[in-house]
Amino acid sequence: MKVVISLGGSVLSPENASYIPEVANLIIRVSQEHDLYIVVGGGKTARHYITAARVFCTDEQYLDTIGIAATRLNALLINAFFKKPIPETIEAAAAMQPPVIMGGTVPGHSTDAVAAMLARRVSADRLVIATDVDGIYERDPKRYPGAKKLDSIHIRELRAMAGDTWKKAGMNAVIDGIACRIIDEEKISTCVVNGKDVKMLENAIYGEEFNGTVVEV
Ligand code: UTP
Repeated sequence: MKVVISLGGSVLSPENASYIPEVANLIIRVSQEHDLYIVVGGGKTARHYITAARVFCTDEQYLDTIGIAATRLNALLINAFFKKPIPETIEAAAAMQPPVIMGGTVPGHSTDAVAAMLARRVSADRLVIATDVDGIYERDPKRYPGAKKLDSIHIRELRAMAGDTWKKAGMNAVIDGIACRIIDEEKISTCVVNGKDVKMLENAIYGEEFNGTVVEV
């Protein structure tokens, strides 16, 4: 089985350091049987740097490049357990022996899109979006505490929510529109789970019952 995991920077970050060995152990364990590809997000570090640079820089591609550097910095945290090269392109990632740990690639999308591109490239059995909320909600649960979590959502509906384009560096959506388009076109089996719950993440990787959202394709 080949599984690509988009591990959000909100989950894997220096603020959450005690989590890193837990998830590394999970990757090591699952990798004994399956091929894992982990794409790490930039989280707060990316947003912090992008916000600072935006004061004097209007070049979105350059701001994205700063975000990419943050994703690779976060990837280096978990890579302490693997000490492998961090691939910078989809092709380089696909050519490596799993487990593969990487961050972003080029400007114009988020690491969710990188994960979807990698899933397409390696014909992954599953794409797991591991974020810091329990799944996809009808409305942003951080802004609307009463918002209802969806057990499943059709990719078309998600595309309608996310849009199809990349608007600006550091933009935050549950799954970015570019990733949604690839998931829809390639019919990639996808789920969204709270990555902070390592047991739920493991269940999602194996396609077992989990508390999150299944994206119907
Ligand atoms: P993230 O993928 O972390 O974006 O990339 P995010 O939406 O903040 O996701 P979470 O919060 O970690 O889950 C951070 C920024 O880096 C740039 C974009 O500007 C993105 O917003 N980036 C990342 C790219 O331009 N290309 C990439 O391949 C990856």
